[in-house]
Amino acid sequence: MATFRKLMRKVCMALNFCRYRRRILLICSPCFVLITVYIYVSIALTYAMTHGTSAVRPMLPTRFIASGLRFTKDLSPHPEEHFWRTELDNGALWNFIQHITDRRYNPILRKPLDSAEGLSDRSTGRQSGGSCNPDYQVKDAMPDYDMLTTQMKDFVVSMHCRDYPLILEPLDVCDDGPLAKTRAPLLFLAIKSQSGNFKNREAIRKTWGRSGNVMGRESKGGLVRRIFLLGMSKDLLVEDKLTFESKMHGDIIQWDFADTFFNLTLKDVLFWDWFSRRCPHARFIFKGDDDVFVRTPAILDYLLAEEKNEINFTNLTTKQLSLASMQTKMEQFIVGDVINNAAPLRSNQTKYFVPESFYKGLYPSYPGGGGVVYSGSLALKLSRVSQRVHLFPIDDVYVGMCLQRIGVSPIHHPAFLTFDFPIDEPNDPCANHTVLLVHKRSPTDVFRLWSETLTPSPECRNATLRVKRRDA
Ligand SMILES: *[C@@H]1O[C@H](CO)[C@@H](O)[C@H](O)[C@H]1NC(C)=O
Ligand SMILES: *[C@@H]1O[C@H](CO)[C@@H](O)[C@H](O)[C@H]1NC(C)=O
Ligand SMILES: *[C@@H]1O[C@H](CO)[C@@H](O)[C@H](O)[C@H]1NC(C)=O
Ligand SMILES: *[C@@H]1O[C@H](CO)[C@@H](O)[C@H](O)[C@H]1NC(C)=O
Repeated sequence: MATFRKLMRKVCMALNFCRYRRRILLICSPCFVLITVYIYVSIALTYAMTHGTSAVRPMLPTRFIASGLRFTKDLSPHPEEHFWRTELDNGALWNFIQHITDRRYNPILRKPLDSAEGLSDRSTGRQSGGSCNPDYQVKDAMPDYDMLTTQMKDFVVSMHCRDYPLILEPLDVCDDGPLAKTRAPLLFLAIKSQSGNFKNREAIRKTWGRSGNVMGRESKGGLVRRIFLLGMSKDLLVEDKLTFESKMHGDIIQWDFADTFFNLTLKDVLFWDWFSRRCPHARFIFKGDDDVFVRTPAILDYLLAEEKNEINFTNLTTKQLSLASMQTKMEQFIVGDVINNAAPLRSNQTKYFVPESFYKGLYPSYPGGGGVVYSGSLALKLSRVSQRVHLFPIDDVYVGMCLQRIGVSPIHHPAFLTFDFPIDEPNDPCANHTVLLVHKRSPTDVFRLWSETLTPSPECRNATLRVKRRDA
């Protein structure tokens, strides 16, 4: 011990701070402790970050799958990159021009513009009123234009035209006096037909398309009005006969455009426009083809029940739920055979062929065009929004595109058989009494089905609507 003290004293003297030794120690010991702790923590952290984590945490998969859903086969693959589109896709003509239009009317990006304003600028090429010439400049936007089918070529050069003049127009289908609202039809039938289909129209007039007061099967029914939507055929003789037919029945509406498959969308757009001017108070619209059979009385029952549900619903929930919210619900009403996640057909052997240079992506949900029912108020909305949606060659897909932009989902009803009965379905003697609509049926079938509907056999009298969902 003595030698140690001597040694210390020597060291102290050498360093010349022995007098302050105690004080220095007193001041610095907390610092030493702090520094030691700091070093320890740093080393521990560095170690944990470089080595420790992989030992503690499992490796994450590149795709995240919520544990509860792992075994669901319906689960779509999780995108590995961001899934929103940041850039304008100019690979497909329709997507490109629609993207520009969507952006321009986006209520978040811009203040809502005047609703009357539509696709009326030069970038979209729409001309208002009068004649509309083919626009061959779009060829430049489609590198494969020359290889397209004729109907696709015809479509792209004229897709900016939609203001075709009326040739035949029925008078007095809907009241437009002061009683317009009280005398408005419950159901307005708008049936797409072609000049030559005289027999189809005749069968419809005498059966499911009868105009006037129609009884439901269970309900009191209501007023039904009918109209046929036509374009022009090339056959002048047929056109003469049609003019005569229009005078006889007053239920033909015809516009001056070629009545081709890819021009069917024009019938929807022009009909919505006509409807909002001439019959805006009709409560429901049936829009369909002239080769379907419709059980109109059953549809009337169904629609009246839907309307009544609506009112009960608002009464039940709360008194504040005003008429306005009921209207909102009815403004979104569209029912039919809903097709989800359909992809464009890419084989030019089908009449539905749409090339990738025109449209990319899946189609939005849409009700099959064979027959669909929607509210009159929705038709008014569709009429407005269609001004901001470029024409698309397939009419029912176009309706889906418009619905998507007003945020409406179509309701699927299994009793709308736009693809006929499933082939593998077991035979049900009352099957014909379980449908609201079936496609496709000849005029002869339509007559037979109608008399069957009016006077069902005793065992089928109580048949109810189909509830099974079509597997597709
Ligand atoms: C259909 O497509 C094939 C190749 O996919 C092409 O050779 C043919 O010319 C096309 N037909 C028409 C009518 O465009
Ligand atoms: C649609 O009708 C217009 C006017 O008749 C015509 O120029 C155009 O070629 C038609 N479009 C199709 C795809 O047939
Ligand atoms: C249903 O109607 C069709 C005519 O469209 C007829 O061929 C068929 O036999 C009918 N089914 C039954 C079970 O009566
Ligand atoms: C149909 O319903 C009525 C009462 O709703 C019943 O009296 C009758 O027996 C039923 N008929 C059949 C065939 O089920």
